[in-house]
Amino acid sequence: MKRLTLDNIDLSLEAPLEEPARQYYFIAKARSFMGELSKKLGHTPTCAVVTFGCQMNARDSEKLVGTLEQIGYQVIEEEGKADLVIYNTCTVRDNANQRVYGRLGALNNQKKKNPHMRIALCGCMMQEEAVIEKIKKSYRFVDIIFGTHNIYKLAELLVTSFTREGMVVDIWKDTDKIVEDLPVERKYTFKSGINIMFGCNNFCSYCIVPYVRGKERSRSPRDIIREIEALVADGVVEVMLLGQNVNSYGTNLEEEITFAELLQRIEEIPGLKRIRFMTPHPKDLSDELIQVMKNSTKICRHLHLPVQSGSTRILERMKREYTKEDYLKLALKIRKEIPDIALTTDIIVGFPGETHEDVEDTIDVVKQVGFDNAFTFIYSKRTGTPAAAMEQVPEDQVKKEFDRLLKVVQEVARERCGQLVGQVEEVLFEEINGQDSSMLTGRLSNNTTVHVKADESLIGKICPVKLTEARGFYYLGELVKT
Ligand code: 5AD
Ligand code: SF4
Repeated sequence: MKRLTLDNIDLSLEAPLEEPARQYYFIAKARSFMGELSKKLGHTPTCAVVTFGCQMNARDSEKLVGTLEQIGYQVIEEEGKADLVIYNTCTVRDNANQRVYGRLGALNNQKKKNPHMRIALCGCMMQEEAVIEKIKKSYRFVDIIFGTHNIYKLAELLVTSFTREGMVVDIWKDTDKIVEDLPVERKYTFKSGINIMFGCNNFCSYCIVPYVRGKERSRSPRDIIREIEALVADGVVEVMLLGQNVNSYGTNLEEEITFAELLQRIEEIPGLKRIRFMTPHPKDLSDELIQVMKNSTKICRHLHLPVQSGSTRILERMKREYTKEDYLKLALKIRKEIPDIALTTDIIVGFPGETHEDVEDTIDVVKQVGFDNAFTFIYSKRTGTPAAAMEQVPEDQVKKEFDRLLKVVQEVARERCGQLVGQVEEVLFEEINGQDSSMLTGRLSNNTTVHVKADESLIGKICPVKLTEARGFYYLGELVKT
């Protein structure tokens, strides 16, 4: 990968206009402030990046951390001890917003004790005008605010904050730009997320994502492959291709390419062992994609296919562009073609106008498909989306329906999880088990978690494991000697 270096950047010159050279200039410039800041603080400046929300945000945070390390910050976990705290926010549901406001209160107290401390907010929540107004009015101690489209500008904004008083606010409404080749610091050495596209053009009626992440933009296959090749050379064996709606990958590119074709090209990268992706939309999941998955040795046996609701009436109001029958037909076709696949989903309960009968339809889909796992969410009204103007379902009714659905989801998932007991499957070991340090936790190709007695040195390795016991949603297993 083409890497710009920080050496030989002449800070007496004006900042270059083209990216990423401009950001490398500002990384070098921000670094020149670190000596003085260290003196004032009495230690190397520390920073913590806190991620809310989805895997897209997690990947963005890795880019923020990469930039901060280059600047000279020591990256730490505890925000309570950090001299710079960045919240990379989510706004898909209101509870994510409330958590940010709650935690900001605590940061204010911390900042009162540490006058050199800086607080930065970025990500989806910052793309909402009402949020910016609220922060400007009630959270004046925040130093930097930026959004989703200019997340790559962290170094530049930090320099602005170092050189002038007051809050630095830089929010863009949308962008056509994709800035490549900024520093990244991965959370895991052996696996990585890769953005293949940004934004979403679907405008499901409940969803705020298209408003805060902008219109769809695909990265060129060449850039994606180049990034994955560099990651593999650096020890990565598993990639997760990220996009809000991966099926429409390529639509804005000059070169004609489908998502399935991109997968086939990625499959050819030597040394890469596992390929995952999220999230496909049921309305345009092609037969071509099913066949590519079926014939692949690297694409994992897992498909996360958000259904959102099982009721055709509600799906129509959600603007999902498929019916209950369409979804069932698709899911059953996938199960038939790829019998060992795990199907997982997202479900929203309490969408405006949803009745007991609608939830019955959803439960019917859960049972018929037999989801291996499902994320169930209570509908959250998002200002500016069409569903916010529809008549809302009373809270107590939603709660009852939610509990009813969750029970079925859990029963079905538990049943599915037991099916592999006794079999030998490959596990990618990811980390030391949180409860028992003599065990490692890893994942099957189908994404189910497995706990195995094994040595730490196996982290990042794929090993055969006999699945000895199913415990609800995970397995216990034993290493198989090879
Ligand atoms: N309320 C509740 N859940 C939502 N999601 C998206 N928007 C909302 C909302 N307004 C859920 C969908 C989506 C997942 C990422 O978040 O199920 O698939
Ligand atoms: Fe939101 Fe629908 Fe786009 Fe997913 S596909 S991000 S639910 S608008």
